[in-house]
Amino acid sequence: MQARAPLMIEHRLIEQMLNAIQHKLEHVEQTRSIDPCFVDTAVDFIRVYADRTHHGKEEDIMFTELRGKKLSNEDRHLMNELIEDHIFSRKTTKALVEANMRYRTGDKAALSEIMDSLKTLVDFYPKHIKKEDDVFFPAARSYFTEEEDKAMLAEFREFDRKMIHEKYKAVVKEFETIIG
Ligand SMILES: [Fe+2]
Ligand SMILES: [Fe+2]
Repeated sequence: MQARAPLMIEHRLIEQMLNAIQHKLEHVEQTRSIDPCFVDTAVDFIRVYADRTHHGKEEDIMFTELRGKKLSNEDRHLMNELIEDHIFSRKTTKALVEANMRYRTGDKAALSEIMDSLKTLVDFYPKHIKKEDDVFFPAARSYFTEEEDKAMLAEFREFDRKMIHEKYKAVVKEFETIIG
């Protein structure tokens, strides 16, 4: 298995979630209401799975390794663009969380902001995935030897192994804060 394989498998689950969000949005448009818990679930998926677990492997391992290579201008430019995309997705998610908080406490006008942020993610993210799957990952592979690619796959696995612990440590910490 090549190192990029688990990243591409993760892309499929992200697409599946985006499709589900899209489906939900159609329903929200008709009813003009949303269950804030649905937004919480979408946010948890985006933050913990898409951002921390998935972008984490891309940025902290693959892109970091690539910084030590002599990338073509085109590939370097694309890598920077992908990092900007990740930043954009974090900003959009932050706006979504804030709007959901206002909606939950009775500000019904926040619904359109929730919908806008979800729509933005649904529209933007598949383009990001396509850039990685079709262009950047194949290009990135050419900078690594077989051995380096295998080592990167092992690093990805180690990174993933820690994620569940990190997630639930954060849950306990938050729970402690809530109960005081
Ligand atoms: Fe990415
Ligand atoms: Fe990705």
